[in-house]
Amino acid sequence: MTDASDLLDGLSLEQKAALCVGASAWTTVPEGARAVRMSDGPHGVRFVADEHLAGRESEPATCFPTAVALASTWNPLLAREVGAALGAEAAACGVDVLLGPGVNIKRTPLGGRNFEYFSEDPYLAGELAVAWIEGLQSRGVGASLKHFALNNQEFQRQSIDVEIDERALREIYLPAFEAAVTRARPWTVMCAYNRVAGQLCSQHPRLLSAILRGEWGFDGAVVSDWGAVRDRVAALAAGLDLEMPGPRPRHVQELVTAVTEGNLPLATLDAAVLRLQRLTERAAARGAAAPVDADAHHALARRVAAESMVLLKNDGLLPLAPGARVALVGRSVREPKIQGGGSSRVNPTRVDLPWDALLADLPGAQYAEGWAADLRPDPALIREATDAARASEAALVFLALPGELESEGYDRTDLTLPPAQVELLRSVAAVQPRTAVILNSGGAVDMRAWIGEVPAVLQAWTMGQAGGGALADVLMGRVSPSGKLAETFPLAIEDTPAYLAYPGENGRARYDEGCYVGYRYYEARRRPVLFPFGHGLSYTTFVYDDLRVSASSFDAGDALSVSLSVANSGEALGQEIVQLYVHDPVSRLRRPVKELKAFAKVTLQPGEVRRVTLELGERAFSYYDPLHARWVAEPGDFDVLVGASASDIRLRARVTLVHGTELPFALTRDSSVREWLADPRGEPVLAPMLPQIRHGMASAMGSDQDHQAIGMDLDRFLMDMPLVSILAFGETSPDVSAVGLVDELLARARGDDRTAEEVTA
Ligand code: BGC
Repeated sequence: MTDASDLLDGLSLEQKAALCVGASAWTTVPEGARAVRMSDGPHGVRFVADEHLAGRESEPATCFPTAVALASTWNPLLAREVGAALGAEAAACGVDVLLGPGVNIKRTPLGGRNFEYFSEDPYLAGELAVAWIEGLQSRGVGASLKHFALNNQEFQRQSIDVEIDERALREIYLPAFEAAVTRARPWTVMCAYNRVAGQLCSQHPRLLSAILRGEWGFDGAVVSDWGAVRDRVAALAAGLDLEMPGPRPRHVQELVTAVTEGNLPLATLDAAVLRLQRLTERAAARGAAAPVDADAHHALARRVAAESMVLLKNDGLLPLAPGARVALVGRSVREPKIQGGGSSRVNPTRVDLPWDALLADLPGAQYAEGWAADLRPDPALIREATDAARASEAALVFLALPGELESEGYDRTDLTLPPAQVELLRSVAAVQPRTAVILNSGGAVDMRAWIGEVPAVLQAWTMGQAGGGALADVLMGRVSPSGKLAETFPLAIEDTPAYLAYPGENGRARYDEGCYVGYRYYEARRRPVLFPFGHGLSYTTFVYDDLRVSASSFDAGDALSVSLSVANSGEALGQEIVQLYVHDPVSRLRRPVKELKAFAKVTLQPGEVRRVTLELGERAFSYYDPLHARWVAEPGDFDVLVGASASDIRLRARVTLVHGTELPFALTRDSSVREWLADPRGEPVLAPMLPQIRHGMASAMGSDQDHQAIGMDLDRFLMDMPLVSILAFGETSPDVSAVGLVDELLARARGDDRTAEEVTA
C-alpha cells in the first residue's frame, strides 16, 4: 500500500474532496491512473458500457436465480460458486465492485425487493452472504454489502424513519451484516436510503462509524446508495467515504468549504481518502481477467435454480413419468419470470424456456396460454386450457406474479395472484385431478383459494435464465427437489408480524413486533401458517436419529458440537437440509420460542446413512441485553432442537449452561425482590433477610389473614415491588431510612461501601 503520508501530502484539499464524490454513474474519480468501476448486482453483472448512463439496458451477462432462490438452497458452497462466477464476469467487464449482496431482513412479505434479499432469518442470511462475498472477492472483485441498515420496505424508502428497539436491531437486523463484515471482509458497504432514529443512514455516525467500524472493525469504504446523500459534509463526518453517483461538484465544494472554515476536521477527510485509496489498491491488484465460460455459468445457473425450487406440496403427482401426456398451461411456460424489477435487472445471455425444456421430455405435451398478457380473465383462453387439461394425463399450471409487481422502489400491495390466473387454475383443477402448480414469484402468494384443490405445488421463484431447464430436471425427477423456504409462507397478509405497523404513518415505520419477525412471530403467537420456515419436500424421505451433544453442561465460550445421523429411507437420490434451533425455556428477557443457529445440507443415496455435525458457539445461546449493551449467555437449561423445518422438530437434547457471561452489577434502588433473588450477588444478601422484611411489611400492612380477607397473596404481591418500597413501610422512626437500608444492601451485594449515587456518578 502507498505510504499514507506521501499520498496525503501529494493531494490538495480540492483533490481530496473530489475523491469522495463519484465521477460518473458508475466510476470514482481516478487516483493516479486508476478509477474504480462499479456495477449492479446482485444476481448478475449489470454492466452499462457508457459509464454516464445508469438506467440503460446492460451488456449480456448470466442471470442467476435471484437471492430468494439462492437462499432456498441453504447451500453456502453453491452461494460461493455463484459469487465466484459473478466475480469472473465482473472482472471480464473491468468491473471492480459488484453492488451486492443485499442482506436486509424480510420483515413483511410485501417488500418490493424481497426477491433480491435472502431471508427472514438473520443467521441464514449471514451464512449465505459470507459465502457469496468470499466467492466474489476470490476473483479480485469487491462486494458492496447493502443496504446498511434497516431498509426493509420500499415504500418511502428515501425518507421513512425506522423506529426500532435496540434488541431487535441487534438480534434481527444487524447480524447478517455483522457476519458478512467480520468474516468475509467486503471491500465496501452501501448505506441505505432511509432514516433510522431520525437520521438518514447516509449521515448516521452510530451505524457507519460506531457499529460498522468501531465494533466490527470494518476496514473498507462506505459507499452511498445511489443518490442517498443529502448533506455531503454530515455524511462524511458520519463515516460515508464515497458518494455515488457523480459528478456533483457542489458537494465537492461543500467539503472544501467545511474543512476551510473548520466545520469538518481535515483528519476526517484524510481518513476517507485513505480508505478510498485502499479500495483503489484492492481493485488494482486484480490480475488480467480470464475469459468467461458462458456455458459453464449457464449450467451453474441451472444447478442453482434446480436446487432452489421448493416442493411445497406433493400428493404423489410429481415427478412426472417420461413421455406422459401433459397439458402445459399458462403464459409463463413460454414467458417465464426469471428475475425482478429495478436496478438488479440483468440482460441474460440466453433464456431456457420451460416449454422448450419440457418438450424434450414430454414430446406429447400440449400448450395452452391460459391467461392473457393484460391479465384480464379471458373465458376463451380458460376454456381452451381446461379442454387441454381434460384431454391429458396431467396438467402443469404455471402461475406468475406479473413482472412489475415485484420491483425496487415500491412494495406489493397484497399477496394475491391475478384473479385471471386463479380462475384458470380452479377451472383446470376441476377437470384434471392430476394438476400441479408451478409458481414463478419472488415471494409468498395467498394460496387459500386453491391449495386444497391441487395435489402438488412447486415454488420456482425468480429462477434466473436457466430456470426452464431446471424445472424440467425437477419435474421429471432427474433432480430431487431439495430447496426449503428461507421465509415463512403465511396464510394471509393479516397474519403477518408487521401487519399493523407496516408501512408506517407520517413518515415513521415503528418496528413494533421487535424480534418477532417471521417464524419467531408465528411460533410465539401459535399462528398457523401456509408453509413454515424451513419447509420443503423431496422425492425421497429422510430419517433423523441418534442425536449426540459433545457435553451436557458447558460454560459460555465453550463450543458445543451436535451430531446426528440422517438416513435416506426412500428410493431416490436426495439432499436434506438439517436445521438446528435453540430454545431457551427460562430467561430474564423474553425470547422467541426457537431460533435457527446452525444447518447443514447433506446428499444421500437411497439407503445411505451419514453423520452430520453442527457447531454451536456462545452466540447461539445468547440474547442481546440492552441493559448491559452486550450479548448475554444466561446460565440455565437450553434445548437443542433438530428438525426438517421450524415446525417439524425430529430430535431434541437438553444442555445446561453453567457459567454464563460475566455481567457488571445491575441491581439498583429500584430493583424488585424478584430481581434481587435472581441476581447471583443479590440473592445471598437478601434471601436470609427476607423473612424479617416480610414480617416487617406484614405488621405495617396487616397480617396474612388480613391480606387473604381482601383476596391477596402477600408473597406474590411483594415479589415485584422495589425492595425500597417494602422497606419504606418500616420507616416508622425518623432514624430509619429505607433508601439508606437499600444502599447498604446494595453495597454488600456489590462488595464495596459506595452509595447508589456514588456508583451512578
Ligand atoms: C439501489 C441499489 C443499487 C443502486 C445502483 C439504487 O437505487 O437501491 O441497490 O445498487 O441503485 O443502481
